[in-house]
Amino acid sequence: MNTQLYDKLIFELSRPGCRGYALPDENRADEGLGDIKTLPEQLLRESEPELPRVDEPTLVRHYTNSSTNNFGVDTGFYPLGSCTMKYNPKINEELAAGFASELHPLQPADTVQGALEVYWRLQKALSTIGGMAEFTLNPHAGAQGELTGLMVIKSYHNSREDYGRTRILVPDSAHGTNPASAACAGYEVVEVHSMPDGTVDVEDLKSKLDSSVAALMMTNPNTVGMFERNIPVIAEAVHAVGALLYYDGANLNPLLGVARPGDMGFDVMHINLHKTFATPHGGGGPGAGPVGVRAGLEQFLPNPRVLQAPDGTLYVNEQDSACGRVSAWLGNYTVFVKALAYIYTLGACGLRYVGPLATLNANYIMHSLCDLYELPIPGPCKHEFVFDGLKDKSTGVTTLNIAKALLDCGFHAPTIYFPLLFHESLMIEPTETESRRTLDDFISAMRDIAGRAASEPDSVRTEPHHTPVRHPDDTEAALHPRLTWSDLKC
Ligand SMILES: Cc1ncc(COP(=O)(O)O)c(C=O)c1O
Repeated sequence: MNTQLYDKLIFELSRPGCRGYALPDENRADEGLGDIKTLPEQLLRESEPELPRVDEPTLVRHYTNSSTNNFGVDTGFYPLGSCTMKYNPKINEELAAGFASELHPLQPADTVQGALEVYWRLQKALSTIGGMAEFTLNPHAGAQGELTGLMVIKSYHNSREDYGRTRILVPDSAHGTNPASAACAGYEVVEVHSMPDGTVDVEDLKSKLDSSVAALMMTNPNTVGMFERNIPVIAEAVHAVGALLYYDGANLNPLLGVARPGDMGFDVMHINLHKTFATPHGGGGPGAGPVGVRAGLEQFLPNPRVLQAPDGTLYVNEQDSACGRVSAWLGNYTVFVKALAYIYTLGACGLRYVGPLATLNANYIMHSLCDLYELPIPGPCKHEFVFDGLKDKSTGVTTLNIAKALLDCGFHAPTIYFPLLFHESLMIEPTETESRRTLDDFISAMRDIAGRAASEPDSVRTEPHHTPVRHPDDTEAALHPRLTWSDLKC
């Protein structure tokens, strides 16, 4: 490989006079190429733009080589806890490309009945899977789904002229987006403590429940991979004060085919299609965070909605009772095609295996490593679990060092320093899509790192040694971040 193209920044490859394009000039109008117009004088630039000057092959090779420096589920095992980085089947991509590429969001509904049917079917499938009455697919991410769900909750309370509900309760194990969404929706956030086993402290919750509470947001299984066994008691207590129960569906994967949030008493929920339904996470999007509601809350779902007329025709509807609008159109359409393809490929029967297999894989890794890594909450876990760093703390090797050492072994690092319940959190989620062989390779790498932490800790602390970007100086990076090309020059 040409390491010049591989290692350098595109600006470093720039050479005066080089260019990667050639537009025909004015004179060639005589050659029968038509009337080639130049820009009017007043629109011309006064100086050359500061752009890299490279020929087209150099440009293409540079970016193609750079793209191979990236790590993704297609290049290796990605056990990023709470993110459910499962393999994305390629057939879903093909279907999305073929099905959605010629559509325009402004087309009249009667010309896109097939496309609306995909939307409609996915709404129905998610309602069945979640145990909800109705879904909207409009939100573009889990966090936006949370905000939408809270807007639905606010509209519900307002419709009852119950304006005194200003607080949202959030367990201390919650993902950061939960309190952030509650604050964005204009609520005061109140933290609920966890028990030593990571589940919600029901007594603490009850002491905070009153008529000022709009909702309790919960993730189940929670972010330490524990199933909230007290959910019936919690649901009863929340409803008894007139509040609603919100389900953060980021961790729906282990429940697939086993249990449904609607049956547990949740009123509103979101699903991250890019986690549970195998659509890509790529670069923060395009994702989708559909929101489901129990019967009686449908009218508060955001505009627009896809509804079915009595004759079976599908149409796009707007209504005054909606909580507002959260998306320019109906959402990330290609993501819906991929999610529906995944659901139909597995079928009801296949979906029932997802949760149990994800749970089995997580427990397998946990049991294979808990003699070397500290397990603050003993299992069995659900889809993910948390180690609190190495058992032997005397080596000085931290969770950050372990995460970086794993990169040299060809694995993406697990989620680190989250949840905040432990000092050295290392949260591992293998998902159901990994083979026994991959899990065993990961286990051996983790055991090897633990062994080297004891025998040669300095070497572990300086890893990774073989990745395109090596071990950066964290302090230097924090104090003097170089964020642009011109910063790098100095
Ligand atoms: C528990 C939990 N809730 C919410 C979110 C937010 O989802 P998104 O990244 O789709 O906005 C995440 C993302 O990782 C999560 O793990």
